[in-house]
Amino acid sequence: MKKKLNIETLLSHLGEDRESHQGAVVPPIYQNSLFTFEDWDDIDAAFDDRTARPIYTRLINPTTQVAERKIAALAGPDYACRLTASGMGAISAAVMHVVSPGDHIVAVKNLYGPANNLINRYLKEKMGLEVTFVSGEQASDFKEAVTERTSLIMMESPSSAVFSLQNIAEVAAFAKGTSITTMIDNTWATPLYQKALDMGVDIEVHSASKYLGGHSDIVAGAIISSEERIQEMIVNESELLGATIAPHTSWLITRSLRSLVMRLEYHQKNAMRVASFLEAHPKVRRVRYPGLTSHPQHDLARQQMSGFTGLMSFELATDELDDIKSFFNSLEVFQIGVSWGGHESLIYAPAISYLKELPPERFKDLGISLGDMRISVGLENADDLVADLSHALQAM
Ligand SMILES: Cc1ncc(COP(=O)(O)O)c(C=O)c1O
Repeated sequence: MKKKLNIETLLSHLGEDRESHQGAVVPPIYQNSLFTFEDWDDIDAAFDDRTARPIYTRLINPTTQVAERKIAALAGPDYACRLTASGMGAISAAVMHVVSPGDHIVAVKNLYGPANNLINRYLKEKMGLEVTFVSGEQASDFKEAVTERTSLIMMESPSSAVFSLQNIAEVAAFAKGTSITTMIDNTWATPLYQKALDMGVDIEVHSASKYLGGHSDIVAGAIISSEERIQEMIVNESELLGATIAPHTSWLITRSLRSLVMRLEYHQKNAMRVASFLEAHPKVRRVRYPGLTSHPQHDLARQQMSGFTGLMSFELATDELDDIKSFFNSLEVFQIGVSWGGHESLIYAPAISYLKELPPERFKDLGISLGDMRISVGLENADDLVADLSHALQAM
């Protein structure tokens, strides 16, 4: 598109190439593994640049490209996106793109669990990399942890476990003058509300299973970075590690992106209402939501994000498992389940999986307690959500 358009318009129209599809207002799904060629010279030319023209869906698929262009536009005009089969597919491809044996990684300790396990268990124990986990609330945490072998700094801000933030611009500025690559899991804020690449970060990773998908009907991931780096990843990590997104999933993401701006505004509005209700409730010890002025890093949150989404946690004012279960089991509108970022409100108690997977001291060190409830505030009516929570708190 030639004119400079705003993001809602780009999410509707960018990359759709309607002229090639008989004016179809929704692009067709290229549900095919391979693409055929006229003759020897035609396929020979395609192999000159395997990222330019579709040859095989593991490399390029036109349906996937539509969604990739829109997601890249969310981050800014100068970036490119690579969709993957899951958020973990994006994280593992991006990490493998950066690190080599013998390298050192500095990561926030509250990184999404499987991402933490990827670097701590898989890369450290199986492949001999060194890892240092830091709190990350101060940029100096990273500066103090790096060694001459550090090749990667991994952030997740806000963290989806305890909602702590890193000062993204400061960490990126420190790494800029070095050979360290910075990466952020930007799933919570989405590239709409947090322009991490503009703040100097090298690579953004996302679980597109959350807000980018938004309907709880797909599992997918996204990597956003410079055009050059994404081109390299297509012929390396996409081709070799193979976490390829299915064309139908990409098509569903294109569907979802058209309403992203409106959905996030509504998630934010509902989340503020729910967070304020919980904060004022006597049976709630504390609420962790970066949008509340009581959040210890609220000023930083306002500085580096232009909006807030719908995931938060709160701690019930009890340590009695029976009371905690009564609350949990009394909810009717909030559904019990993992994941977040969809249309439906969800509740999950991190203790359920953490206590099975982690030794008790690590659980404590992460700052999570038995009464912590993580909720994803969906797109239902806010009165119904507040009434549901209120009724369950009374049942406690
Ligand atoms: C913050 C965060 N990053 C990454 C992931 C992984 O994404 P996926 O489940 O799409 O592999 C998740 C999934 O819950 C997540 O919450």
